[in-house]
Amino acid sequence: MNEKDGRVELKLESGHTVTAGHAVIATNSPIHDLVALHTKQAPYRTYAMGFEIETGKLDDALYWDTQDPYHYVRLTSGEDGKDIVIVGGEDHKTGEADDADARFAALTSWAKTLIPDLGPERYRWSGQVMDTLDYCGFIGREAGSKRVLVSTGDSGQGITHGVVASLLIPDLILGRENEFAAVYDPDRKPIKAASTYVSENITAVKNFAEYLAPGELSSIDELKPGQGAIVRPGISKIAAYRTEKGEVIEKSAACTHLGCHLHWNSFEECWDCPCHGSHFAPDGSVLNAPAIGPLADVEASS
Ligand code: FES
Repeated sequence: MNEKDGRVELKLESGHTVTAGHAVIATNSPIHDLVALHTKQAPYRTYAMGFEIETGKLDDALYWDTQDPYHYVRLTSGEDGKDIVIVGGEDHKTGEADDADARFAALTSWAKTLIPDLGPERYRWSGQVMDTLDYCGFIGREAGSKRVLVSTGDSGQGITHGVVASLLIPDLILGRENEFAAVYDPDRKPIKAASTYVSENITAVKNFAEYLAPGELSSIDELKPGQGAIVRPGISKIAAYRTEKGEVIEKSAACTHLGCHLHWNSFEECWDCPCHGSHFAPDGSVLNAPAIGPLADVEASS
């Protein structure tokens, strides 16, 4: 993507070029910026469950605590006179744990203690949030750019931030005043966040050291159906996955964004990148930005 002659020029994978007055990058995690914004936000895996409850047993509100990891409760309508209580939280930095069952057990226990009328579990899932240094989204003109705007860093408040972006970005493009521009400015310098900045960026430093460590399994033969693991048959690390039919898929363990070392996520069955939150399917295809390309092929080792 280039800015020239008062236009933005985007080159597509198909080989076509699109030019426009402005470009808005709203890909959850920005795909055009290799470094700057990624050092100011960090990916967290978050868990959620849905439990039945008799309608009227819990007031419709958003509840949350201040523990670390935190928890929240929301209510939504279900079927047959029942509501669904959504209980979420138990977040951890992406790729730094692979213990979803323990996270769901902790959520269940927390919810049962606080909501005596909680009914049976109906749903469970996980997702990823991009937390900024001050938990306020980055919505606005990219630093140093006149014509490229971004919306990212939802910090678990995607619906609110989506509404903000829908109001703020048109104003910025059309040159209208908006009192929230400074609050969400992607180039703002959050006060009192320096220590958080340092600790969030240690992830990448720690991560590259993992390339020196041995693999998680001594041989691909140890992989069970449906399992993924890092193996090291030679000098390179391989992200290996065995399908339910027994076929083994071997890909490079290096994220195609900036090369961080991937971790297997056994609950979602995908490869997670702890550095900036890219996800890849077992076959290496990219599922989540900022990476845009699939994992590299490796020569099969078995
Ligand atoms: Fe940036 Fe993987 S997401 S290195």
